[in-house]
Amino acid sequence: MLLFQLEKDNEKPLYDQLYNGIKEAIISKKIAVGEKLPSKRKLADFLNISQTTIEIAYAQLLAEGYIMSKTRVGYFVEAIDELPYIQQDTITPFIEYPKKKTYKIDFNPSSIDIDAFPFQTWRKYAKDLFDNASKELLLTGEPQGELSLRTEIANYLYQSRGVVCSPEQIVIGSGTEQLLPMILRLFSEDTCFALENPGYPAVHRIFAQHKRKVYPIAVDEEGIMIQTLEKTHAHVAYITPSHQFPTGAVLSATRRAQALNWAAQSSTHYIIEDDYDSEFRYTGKPIPALHALDRNDKVIYMSTFTKSLMPSLRVAYFVLPPKLLATYNDVFNYYSSTVPRFDQHIVANFMRDGHFAKHLNRMRKIYRKKHDKLTTILEKYSASVKITGEQAGMHILLDVQHTLTEKQLQQLASQAGIGIYPLLDYRLDPSEPSKAQFLLGFGGIPVQAIEPSIEHLMDCWSIQKNHPSITK
Ligand SMILES: Cc1ncc(COP(=O)(O)O)c(C=O)c1O
Repeated sequence: MLLFQLEKDNEKPLYDQLYNGIKEAIISKKIAVGEKLPSKRKLADFLNISQTTIEIAYAQLLAEGYIMSKTRVGYFVEAIDELPYIQQDTITPFIEYPKKKTYKIDFNPSSIDIDAFPFQTWRKYAKDLFDNASKELLLTGEPQGELSLRTEIANYLYQSRGVVCSPEQIVIGSGTEQLLPMILRLFSEDTCFALENPGYPAVHRIFAQHKRKVYPIAVDEEGIMIQTLEKTHAHVAYITPSHQFPTGAVLSATRRAQALNWAAQSSTHYIIEDDYDSEFRYTGKPIPALHALDRNDKVIYMSTFTKSLMPSLRVAYFVLPPKLLATYNDVFNYYSSTVPRFDQHIVANFMRDGHFAKHLNRMRKIYRKKHDKLTTILEKYSASVKITGEQAGMHILLDVQHTLTEKQLQQLASQAGIGIYPLLDYRLDPSEPSKAQFLLGFGGIPVQAIEPSIEHLMDCWSIQKNHPSITK
């Protein structure tokens, strides 16, 4: 007879306790394969519980294949090929990942302003779409992304970035991190790549994980050094011309021409232009994308809604030159879009009705205010700190003249509850000695908190305001 300790006051129902008890006995071979289980009536009498409880437990064991039933004979233990479940005490303990450090003041360059999002409008578009009238959106959509969103993106790119493309050339995906590996697959295994150094760490990681040969190319105040690129065997260069990440340099006109000439030199050369935060520019006229100057279909243009709408949306896109579009169709003919159709239509409708343009205008004003506040306050410390990369985007680069090292300064800031991001962390070769340079993201800091935050940072570094005789 099966011996079980059934606990009547346990919160687990009796049938569940019984089911688990028999299952464990079968798995641990305490009951042999082919053995007959006691009849429901006998077991109910023995355990002093109702026959219905036994019936439910047996039915569950039957459904999961632990036992079989022979009509009018009874239930028998089945042979199980492998353990269908792992015993609690053999489960590998949870891996505790180090918790992400949080700060009272966080100059994280990936933060955006979350106080000005037009929730009401967004909600209206979402509400309208989650309706029977849009029921076809429950089915799988187009692999390259919804045509309506691709059409809106093509219009927007033409008007704001000078990029001329058709919706057929656009592929939508759930972020740069998901799209870049797709682009890599359009090129043969022996293709060599050039990456900006320092650069966007996610991109460095993607190339390393895909085991692609990479040439790190230095960046100066005019952006990536094309002369260095020309000396390598790279075929494809990934660059951020509008606002180099992370130095903030804008690729100069000369370098733009050099880059396009380099690309035009060989049929295997291409440029991946990542235009991630081009919407926010604070000095001079907007600079068209590199793609807009390209007459040879050599630029793969990429951008994202991460900065312009929200990072959690996970919508980015690339524009393929016609030649690569054919390769794309060959390689990805099985592909389904990684972005939910409903989300794509919310963005498309939001853009179609002019709300995206309105939102960008509003955000530009907000970020400009924050940017101006930050740079004005930092100017008061200009004897000890120098700002670069302040022409666009949502972060600046701060060069600190100090006797302490970059790491020591970061530690001091961290102890004071301030998160700042050393440039060293963005290098492909972080062992190189570097100056004390930090990324200061201002997107997520409320405008009124900028001045006290900078004062707090300078205090913890014992940096004084300029002597009144120093103006800049
Ligand atoms: C250079 C660069 N590209 C792209 C992105 C955005 O990536 P995603 O679209 O995966 O959010 C960022 C975000 O900070 C970035 O710095």
